[in-house]
Amino acid sequence: MSKHKDSKKKSDSSSKKAAKKKQSRVNDTRGIVSKERARAHFLDGETGPWAKKLAGQPADSDQPTANSETGEDAAQSTTARLANRRGPDYSVPSSIDIVADPVLHAISTRRSISKLDPETPNDSDLRELIHAVSSVADHKGLKPWRFIIIRGDDRIRLGKALDEAGGVHRKSGEINEKPLRAELLLALVAAPRDNPKVPEWEQHATAAGAGHLLELALWQAGWGVMWRSGNLTNEPAVRRLHRLKDKELLMGWLYIGAVPERYRQRMANSTRPLPDPEQFLDTL
Ligand SMILES: Cc1cc2nc3c(=O)[nH]c(=O)nc-3n(C[C@H](O)[C@H](O)[C@H](O)COP(=O)(O)O)c2cc1C
Repeated sequence: MSKHKDSKKKSDSSSKKAAKKKQSRVNDTRGIVSKERARAHFLDGETGPWAKKLAGQPADSDQPTANSETGEDAAQSTTARLANRRGPDYSVPSSIDIVADPVLHAISTRRSISKLDPETPNDSDLRELIHAVSSVADHKGLKPWRFIIIRGDDRIRLGKALDEAGGVHRKSGEINEKPLRAELLLALVAAPRDNPKVPEWEQHATAAGAGHLLELALWQAGWGVMWRSGNLTNEPAVRRLHRLKDKELLMGWLYIGAVPERYRQRMANSTRPLPDPEQFLDTL
């Protein structure tokens, strides 16, 4: 066979492969659904400049522009503002409504539930929620996190490992009941990968982000959660039980269950204020 024919055959087969890959992407309805959902989010949302643009309004229509009295142009007034700035500029009213926006509402109302009822999400629900939170910001997409499901007697094994780690010896028949405070525990493991561009602390930040997103996703799905850890979390006996590799770090457990009715009542009438946001915000 000539060289030309040989390379033609190769390119035919690679274009067939590419077509097959494209088709399998088309058949993968999960991808399509999530893209459509993302699109719907941007189109329906009214929470960012992109939404204003899509709604046909200028994105910066409510930003201060030229000062007509002094004749200053917009660039000059921005420079002046920056030069005199002593802190964030709150003079432009916000168009963000953390009560009306369902995502911001869920974020701002989330709270930990320490005493949980026994009903739990099933493993298929967990997989769906993990699917959602895998959008967590992740430098180089290293996916440096995972969760371990702990139910039933595995919670007793966790109690034994914690006792061993803490040097606790109990009377026969007694067990460490701490892991029994919920029917379902999800251990969060930070699993950093070797990457010259992504230091370990960034990967821990991503793993923690996955934990916070999952707490929130569970909350939004109607479940109660409390993230717990402790001094013994990364002691050898506890690490062994979770089969951690050397570089992995156990970041605690999400205790998960149903929100008791009395909590629901309390939350409906709760006035716990969110902290003043200004304490979290500054300029250079
Ligand atoms: C990584 C991590 C570990 C935590 N460990 C514990 C813990 O062991 N015990 C505890 O009472 N709270 C722990 N918390 C705090 C609770 O999860 C919860 O955030 C706190 O009680 C405040 O309640 P709130 O979330 O409703 O504001 C931990 C939180 C995080 C993020």
